[in-house]
Amino acid sequence: MISEARRQKAMEIIRGFPQKSSAVIPLLHLWQDEEGYLSDDAIAEVAEIMGMPPAEVQEVVSFYSMFHRRPLGRYHIEVCRSLSCALMGGRDILDHLRRRLGVGLNEPTPDGLFSVGAVECLARCDLAPVGQVNLEYTDRLTPEGVDRLLADLRARAEGGGAGA
Ligand code: FES
Repeated sequence: MISEARRQKAMEIIRGFPQKSSAVIPLLHLWQDEEGYLSDDAIAEVAEIMGMPPAEVQEVVSFYSMFHRRPLGRYHIEVCRSLSCALMGGRDILDHLRRRLGVGLNEPTPDGLFSVGAVECLARCDLAPVGQVNLEYTDRLTPEGVDRLLADLRARAEGGGAGA
């Protein structure tokens, strides 16, 4: 059931577009930002507000890697797996991260602190291999740099810090 507050926000977003259909992505962001991921209920609710079949909303969700169908870690670390980054060792970095954390792609660690994902080109190929932590870029990744990054993020979480 959609809360009145969220319905209001959704209607405000829809009013900002000349064509209602253009609002689907911002609405999905709204749901994901507030719930952490897009559940079946979230997809059904966005579909209801948009007047679209849920299957069409699901198609949009599965097209964009920025949308997640499962809860992620507090720090979601993504590594680019496109060509320039792959040539510079991006896929090894991804494997390294998954081994270090003992998780599969888009699966949170048992403590809920981390998850690891793969993304396509982030348009920073000259800084390959590239990644991002909660959408904040991190460039020229190395296994040692990734280990430091994990330690820093863990320390930040233990210190009560928020964000990436
Ligand atoms: S290929 Fe990775 S940022 Fe372009």
